[in-house]
Amino acid sequence: MKYLLILFIFVGFSDLIDAAEDKSKKIEMPKTFSSGNVDKGSQLVESCAACHGADGNSISTDWPKLAGQNQKYLYEQLKYFRDGERMNVLMMAVTPYLQTLSDEDLLDISAFYSNYKISGGQAKNDEELLGLGTQLYRFGNMKEQIPACTSCHGVYGQGNSLAGYPSVGGQQVGYLTSSLKAYRSKERNAGESSLIMQSIAENLTDYEIEALANYMHGIYK
Ligand code: HEC
Ligand code: HEC
Repeated sequence: MKYLLILFIFVGFSDLIDAAEDKSKKIEMPKTFSSGNVDKGSQLVESCAACHGADGNSISTDWPKLAGQNQKYLYEQLKYFRDGERMNVLMMAVTPYLQTLSDEDLLDISAFYSNYKISGGQAKNDEELLGLGTQLYRFGNMKEQIPACTSCHGVYGQGNSLAGYPSVGGQQVGYLTSSLKAYRSKERNAGESSLIMQSIAENLTDYEIEALANYMHGIYK
């Protein structure tokens, strides 16, 4: 019964998102998320390029790509870093700088990165690993209470910009892996949305995380 309920929740959820996506074609984006200024943002990111790349495509497997990520998600995460809710040793290097920035500045930075296109990745062609990653990402595993990732992150890993669900397609493998582990250990706990991922990641084994990260790295539209 519990499993059935979970199925209904996620089926219902993806219907809702489909409906939202349909509507988003007609309705204007919420004002705050259409007002980020790309040019202004470009003047605020000098200290970010060393790790995230000049165009938001990082070159290290452990550093997230920001290119093409949706504005709403980037904006929320930047606020968490600035306000000390999300912590990371490397990001701490720029926290004092972020603290000098206004909400509007953060919105401009988000617009800047969102405007670029994420570079694609290549999944490791290990049949067993890729098979498991594909299966889990697309369909989840009801017995282990793992929902399909597609219902929120999309078939191509494109995320949901209206809801602010992050895109994950083409993202760096090392970062995808460490993120899922950080949700699982509850170390990543900034904001209410992190609770969704904590409750999913707690059911994932190391091997399943490896398989999912490999699969997500390789999908993009
Ligand atoms: C020394 C390297 C380094 C520098 C410099 C740096 N970052 Fe990061 N950034 C990281 C790492 C590593 C992470 C992943 C943190 C984690 O695992 O929680 C990250 C995470 C992020 C995220 C969240 C990405 C996601 O998908 O959730 C954003 C947004 C971000 N950085 C923006 C910036 C901005 C804007 C600057 C410049 C003001 C900057 N970073 C400077 C290394 C860096
Ligand atoms: C009910 C919606 C939902 C489902 C289902 C879901 N996610 Fe998420 N996911 C989110 C949200 C919302 C966030 C952002 C959470 C936050 O703010 O920390 C997220 C964040 C992530 C991140 C971090 C992205 C980044 O840039 O830091 C990864 C990786 C991820 N999810 C992978 C998965 C995988 C793998 C699955 C399937 C096993 C999955 N998600 C299922 C909603 C969902």
